[in-house]
Amino acid sequence: MKEFDYLRRPLGFFPTPIVKLERLSALLGGPNILMKRDDQTGLALGGNKTRKLEFLIADALRKECDTIITAGAAQSNHCRQTAAACALVGLECHLVLGGEQPKNPNGNLFLDKLFDAQIHWGGVQRKGEGVNKVCELLKSKGKKTYIIPYGGSNELGSLGFVRASLELDSQLKEHEEEVQSIVVASSSGGTQAGLMVGLEMLSSETSVIGIGIDKLGVENHEFARVILDLTYSTANQLELDLSYDLNDVEVRYEYLGRGYGVVGQPERNAIRTVAKTEGVLLDPVYTGRAMAGLIDMIKQGRFERGQTVLFWHTGGTPSLFSYTDDVLQY
Ligand SMILES: Cc1ncc(COP(=O)(O)O)c(C=O)c1O
Repeated sequence: MKEFDYLRRPLGFFPTPIVKLERLSALLGGPNILMKRDDQTGLALGGNKTRKLEFLIADALRKECDTIITAGAAQSNHCRQTAAACALVGLECHLVLGGEQPKNPNGNLFLDKLFDAQIHWGGVQRKGEGVNKVCELLKSKGKKTYIIPYGGSNELGSLGFVRASLELDSQLKEHEEEVQSIVVASSSGGTQAGLMVGLEMLSSETSVIGIGIDKLGVENHEFARVILDLTYSTANQLELDLSYDLNDVEVRYEYLGRGYGVVGQPERNAIRTVAKTEGVLLDPVYTGRAMAGLIDMIKQGRFERGQTVLFWHTGGTPSLFSYTDDVLQY
């Protein structure tokens, strides 16, 4: 395996802690639940994208670019962390966001503005469809641009989660813990793909269960294929042989509810249960849904008592403040 840590520009505080969710585990009466606190990565209220951005921003700096362009939903955590990373290293940041400019920007959008990102509104498109147009415009003004893909999910971004698997492995060894499965919110796929590559690199028996967040890509395992391809392109640059096939990519689609960013009763229950039993904040779009999936899988008997499951908290906390009514509703 090739060295890759030198490709990284540190942006966060690592390792992130692992905590035991003792009260939640007791309440659910299933496996022991650990939580990897990537909501505490340290960059602008944290989140999983910090790990990807360490490799992506480093690449932009190596290529001597001066302007970053990326895209996401109006409440994108990826965009907020990209804006913060750009502020930290002194790059101009342009965000192509889905929707229209709201009257009162709150949550992540408020923070994007604090970090001085320039916002381009994309209407119904929230997956970066307008990025190339913005890029051409900036180039014509003499900017040296660098496009970070939607969600930071390419083979370079995924390296952040290969590194995260190694970090997890040394923490678990130190605490003499063994984890049967990792449960994680999965949306553009880079987090799940990077973890899978890292675990294969370690010859680990731990499985990764992605909880699908977005209805797009459900048909014909399209999203699972994206993840599979990403595992191979990530492994290729490390000169690592993989033996994964489509059956090894587990994404659960039964928790999509009414679609991306729509809070239903399962997410609401999960967010409130974890808040009141553990004092931990989940977010309404990703980790609330992923935790709802974990709670359901425990109820369905997917894990045995005595086993240990690790919930990877991927962050997203700032968007809680733009969903207060949805979360507090009964
Ligand atoms: C809080 C949070 N969790 C999970 C994810 C999903 O990660 P990935 O896009 O790597 O699948 C995202 C992506 O935006 C996110 O913001």
